[in-house]
This record gives sequence, C-alpha cells and structure tokens, in this order.
Amino acid sequence: MARIVPVIVSKLTILVTLLSSLAITHATEENQGFVRSLDRKLYGFKKEKLTHFRVYWHDIYSGSTPTAMPIVRAPSNTSATLFGSLSMIDDPLTEKPELSSKLIGRAQGIYGSAGQEDTALFMAMNFVFLEGKYNDSTISILGRNHVFSKDREMPVIGGSGLFRFARGYAKANTFSFNTKTGDAVVEYNVYVSHY
Ligand SMILES: *[C@@H]1O[C@H](CO)[C@@H](O)[C@H](O)[C@H]1NC(C)=O
Ligand SMILES: *[C@@H]1O[C@H](CO)[C@@H](O)[C@H](O)[C@H]1NC(C)=O
Repeated sequence: MARIVPVIVSKLTILVTLLSSLAITHATEENQGFVRSLDRKLYGFKKEKLTHFRVYWHDIYSGSTPTAMPIVRAPSNTSATLFGSLSMIDDPLTEKPELSSKLIGRAQGIYGSAGQEDTALFMAMNFVFLEGKYNDSTISILGRNHVFSKDREMPVIGGSGLFRFARGYAKANTFSFNTKTGDAVVEYNVYVSHY
C-alpha cells in the first residue's frame, strides 16, 4: 500500500498537468474571440486590377489663395536645402497642366526637407479623388522625392474606397517650377494595383 500511494500521486500530477494545459489552451482560444477569418469575396477581393492615372499637381505658394503653406521654417539659416522645413498642402490635381483644366482631385498632406546635402523631400500625402465613381476614394503616397531629378518614384502604400488594399507607385516629373515663388506644377503618373 505504501508503495502504491506515490504512484497514484504521480499519476494524479500528470492528470492535473494535462487538464490545466487544456484549460490554458481553451482560455487562449477564448481570448482570441476578437479575431476571425473572413470570406475574401465578401470584402471586395475580386479580380485584381491595375490602374494608371495621370494628374497634374499644383503647389502654389504665391498669391492670395496659396495651396501650400510653410508650417515650420528651416531651423538653420545656413542650410542650402532648408533642412527641417515643413509645408502643409491641399494641392489641386487637374487633368491638364493648366490650373483651369478639369479638377480631378486634391493632394492633401505634408512634405518636408529631409536631405542635408541634396534637396530630397519626405512626402506624406493622400490623393482624394472627386470624379465619378472615384469620388471620395483616396490613395496614400509616402516616399522620398528628390525634386531636381526626373522620374522620382514614390510608393503608394494604401488606399480607401475603390482603392482599398491598394499598392503601387507614383512617378513624378516637374512640369514647371518658379524659383522666385516656389510654385510648381508636377506631373504624377500613378500605377496602382487594387481590387
Ligand atoms: C542666422 O542665424 C544666426 C543664429 O541664429 C543669427 O545670428 C544670424 O543673424 C542669422 N543670419 C541671417 C542672415 O539671418
Ligand atoms: C462627390 O461626393 C460629394 C459628397 O461626398 C458630393 O457632394 C459631390 O457632388 C460628388 N461629386 C461628384 C462629381 O459625384
């Protein structure tokens, strides 16, 4: 009898250990009640589309209705690249280079000088569309804009509305730049993959 007790005790220990590990597993599953997998089709994942659009981005500092505003001045007055300066923008996006051409949407966001040696901007902006079925849909662009180069490429990191789950890239080419006022017109060709 005295020899049997330890055996029973050790078997009990194993049983208790097993049961408590089951309890832990169960509790973990319950804690994951906030997450569930979904039917992709019900959430707009149909055939993946590739869309290209071209717009002209008008960054206007001059005049009585500027669309770009310096919100932080460069902390150092010796920086040739105005390193550290920031601008907030609400720039019209038009169909043609002329500001008077059809308004397609707006570029809303912020950019700043992030290069100490070269003029490289850090861009973070949303293109919000105002046209037809794209009305109110947005795409988000976040990237480096080496402004004096041709074909600057910036990633499209997401979108909303018709551009949900978007990814892609934008190519920027300066159409005109006024060195006195800082006003610029830039052609944006955007290639975006979405559903
Ligand atoms: C540049 O900044 C320094 C230090 O803040 C100041 O003493 C100097 O007057 C400024 N120079 C110009 C040209 O504004
Ligand atoms: C776009 O949507 C807004 C409401 O969000 C509406 O006022 C406007 O008329 C729409 N524009 C077009 C072109 O459908």
